Formats: sequence, C-alpha cells, structure tokens
Amino acid sequence: SSLQLACDVPSFSAHEDEEYADVDWDKLGFGLVPTDYMYVMKCAKGSAFERGGISPYGNIELSPSAGVLNYGQVIMTWKFAGSDALKMAHCWDFGWKQGLFEGLKAHRTENGSLLLFQPEQNAIRMRYGAERMCMPSPTVDQFLNAVKQTALANKRGVPPPGRGSLYIRPLLVGSGPILGLGPSPEYTFLIYASPVRNYFKARTAPLNLYVEDEFDRASRGGTGGIKTISNYAPVLKALTRAKERGFSDVLYLDSVGRRNIEEVSSCNIFMLKGNVLSTPATKGTILSGVTRRSILELSRDLGYEVEERAIPVEELLEADEVFCTGTAVVVASVGSITYQDRRCVRGVFMRNLGLLDEFSLHSYIKRWKHRVEFRTGGR
Ligand code: COI
Repeated sequence: SSLQLACDVPSFSAHEDEEYADVDWDKLGFGLVPTDYMYVMKCAKGSAFERGGISPYGNIELSPSAGVLNYGQVIMTWKFAGSDALKMAHCWDFGWKQGLFEGLKAHRTENGSLLLFQPEQNAIRMRYGAERMCMPSPTVDQFLNAVKQTALANKRGVPPPGRGSLYIRPLLVGSGPILGLGPSPEYTFLIYASPVRNYFKARTAPLNLYVEDEFDRASRGGTGGIKTISNYAPVLKALTRAKERGFSDVLYLDSVGRRNIEEVSSCNIFMLKGNVLSTPATKGTILSGVTRRSILELSRDLGYEVEERAIPVEELLEADEVFCTGTAVVVASVGSITYQDRRCVRGVFMRNLGLLDEFSLHSYIKRWKHRVEFRTGGR
C-alpha cells in the first residue's frame, strides 16, 4: 500500500517550472549539482526539534567550536595512525561523534509524480543512530515531512524518468559550541539534494573490488552499524590507494580476525552460490542498508534461499556471483575480487533481477509495496 504523507507545502518555489539550463541529464554521475532549496530545523539540548522549514540552498554558519567540527571528524585520523590503531578506534567509537547522515532518492514517474523509496526506513535508522550517539532526533513524521518538502521544493532537480534521481541527503549534527568532550548544546537537522545517476564512473561495468587487509572500517562495539559521518572518513585512505591501483572500491574484513567479509566503502555486499544468496549479518559493524533489506525480501520472493551470516573471505572467492547494494550504488555487479594478490573473476548476477541501473530500478520500485507517492505540478 502506498503511504500518503501530509506535508506542509513549501512556500518557496520560484524556479519550479524552469529547466536547469546547465544540467545534461545524460551526463549525470554522482557529483554535487546544487538544487534550489534546503530544509533546516534546530533543537537545543534537552528539547525537541520544532519549526523547521525550507530556505534557499547555501552555506551554513557554524561556530568554530561546533560539536560536529571538534568531535565529529578530527579524531578520525587516529583510527589508522600507528600500531595502536585498533585501541584508538575503540576509544573513538565510544566518544562523541556528533554527525549522522542519511541518503535516499526521489524518482520521477512517467505520470509526473515523485516516488520516494522507503523514506520511513531512513527516518527510523536516523533515530536509531541518534540514540547511540546521544543526540536528539526528529520524529519519523518530522523526518518524512521534511524529506517530502525538500523533494517538492527541488522538483525541477528531479531528472526525467529513467535518467537518474534526486539524491536527498539528511544530516543531523551537533551544531552548538562545546569545548570539553560532551553532547553539543544545540543540534541541526538539515536536508539538501542533488540530481544523480551512476555512482561509479564506469557506469554499469562490473566492479573490481580490492579486499583490504591492513585497515579496518569498524570495530566490535563501535558505530559501524549506524550511519555516522565518522564511518566514512576512515575508508578514504584505503579507497584512494585502491583507486590509484585501478580498483572500483574496497571490501573490508572484520577487525577481530580479518577473516570474514563486512562491507564495501559505499555499499553492502552479497554473494550467490547455487540458489543460496548470502550477505554478512548486521551485528553492529556493518550498515543495515535500505537497499540491502529490499534485495533480501525481493530475492526471497523470487525463490532464492537467503542467508544473513558470517562469510569467510575465502568463501566469497568461491561464489558463483557477487554484487553490491546501496542507495547511491543501487545494485552493482562485481566482476573481480582481489585478495592478497589473488584475483578472482566473477559472473554477473543481475540476469534474474534486472536491476543494474536506474532504468530498471523503476520496475523494482513498482514491485515494492511500501512507498511514498505524491503528485507534483509542472513537469
Ligand atoms: C548512500 O548510498 O546513500 C550512501 O550514503 C553512501 C555514500 C558513500 C554515498
């Protein structure tokens, strides 16, 4: 059943029916194309979020001592520094990292309406993450209302059907000034958006993954399972190094034994062996992706046996087929996996699901029963 959402209609819509003059929908990748408006809502420590609204997209003002700047990313670099990296990672994982984000997409349909894919899942995940980080968070209704307002206000930035989508990025940050380690005195919930298409430059070509066996992405008891900004900075060194060597992305192993596969920098991973589809279980070190969850349900419906469990990297190398899922990535086939100088070439899984790019994502969304649909005027 479609979920119809009540939302305050944004009062800004000056450009709504003008075409973007300098955007070529066919050349969209995953770079920022700023859209017209953003959504901002604030709350003081100990109170609730209220009175958010749409304003023109632009820079925001932050105190130099804002919680997110001081305790949000700076300590990040410790995670990989020196031989005590793991111990430091644990310290950091129990500290205050006051920045969470989400990512979801709005699609334009042939009949002119916009579809938001499972936005309530993102709302719930942000609340779950905020609880872990001792941050207040918008209610599910506030989140959905704000996402919907952002999509409507930026509707001219939603690509035509089949040519991409509007990527919507909600952020929750400790914006109040704080010097000593502790929760920020003020929080800001902000949403901006950008039209996007393929995440990987090679568009739909199968990915070449590098299995990282020096750096870890997340540690047990830490925050790998929530969408904090601090889960992403630590992958940059490994990712940059792998890209320089021609790989598309990096697959991380568990930080305890470096034996089981966990997550790719930007997405979750699945393997198929015979009729059994397996993906690492979410036990606090990998993100519970909205696309991951959808693929698990869709695959069950299609008759696959589905497992969420620990997967040794050696087993992945023996899989028949491997693919990645994520909001930005959608569903991407893996063509090769390189582990300790062993390169394994894999087949392409998507023949059954037909989900390789944004075009086919439309049929995927149609199959999915919980969605938010709302009509827009204009184009
Ligand atoms: C997403 O898929 O929405 C993400 O947040 C991943 C990010 C690396 C783009």
